This record gives sequence, C-alpha cells and structure tokens, in this order.
Amino acid sequence: MEEEEYEPLIIAFCCNWCSYAGADLAGVSRFQYPPNIRVIRTMCSGMVHPNLVMDALTKGADGVMICGCHIGDCHYLEGNVVTEKRADAIELMLEDFGLEPERFRLEWISASEGDKFARVMNEMVEVVKALGPSPYKMG
Ligand code: FES
Repeated sequence: MEEEEYEPLIIAFCCNWCSYAGADLAGVSRFQYPPNIRVIRTMCSGMVHPNLVMDALTKGADGVMICGCHIGDCHYLEGNVVTEKRADAIELMLEDFGLEPERFRLEWISASEGDKFARVMNEMVEVVKALGPSPYKMG
C-alpha cells in the first residue's frame, strides 16, 4: 500500500485589520494557497502571547505563523512592535523545546497584499513539509 504524503498543519494568527483582510483579498482574488493553513483571527498581532504559539506547536500544529500590520500601521499603535520583540522570545523557546526555527514565522501583510498572503502561506507549507511532522506530534 502506498504511504500517504505528509500534509503539515499550519496555524496562522492573523490580525483583524491587515493580515486577515489580506487573507480575505487572497480568497476574493483567487490567489491559490494550500488548505494546510488554519487562520485564527486576532484583533492585533500583539495579542498573540508566545505561550499560544508554543501550545500550538506542542499540541498538534507543525508550524505557526503570526501575521500583522506593517510596522507603523498597527491599529493599536505599537502592538506589532511588541510582536516583534515576542518573536525573538519565541525563537529562544523553540530552541529550548528542540524545535526547528523554521516552524515559526512572523510576517507583515497588509489588507492590500492578498498576493503576498498567498505566497507566504505557500512558502511556509513547503518549508514545514520539508522538515516533516513536529516531533511533539509523533509523541
Ligand atoms: Fe494589525 Fe496590530 S492591528 S498588528
């Protein structure tokens, strides 16, 4: 019997005002991106605590993305500046947890960047596919 191809599960936290709208635009514009992505809408990328990322990565997700407004465009002024600092902390946590840094990615995607949303999602799926399943998934 043929082995099924591994399909990674990627969680994408997207801020309501830019990245989520970018995801919407990607859909409306029919830019293709894989079904491996599960979008979770948050009001601001700054609301995504590092523990949420690590929880996802140790409880079933193979990769996690945080997507927010470009620096200077955050609707809560400096939420994404906080996100940027947290991303550094997340990178350290990944190391502590024995996870590859590529399993996490931070991207700024505006409401008008539907094409970028699709491209970044495609890239993330390819990268995580090449890594294989999260070691936490395998028990
Ligand atoms: Fe988009 Fe803050 S509202 S990053």
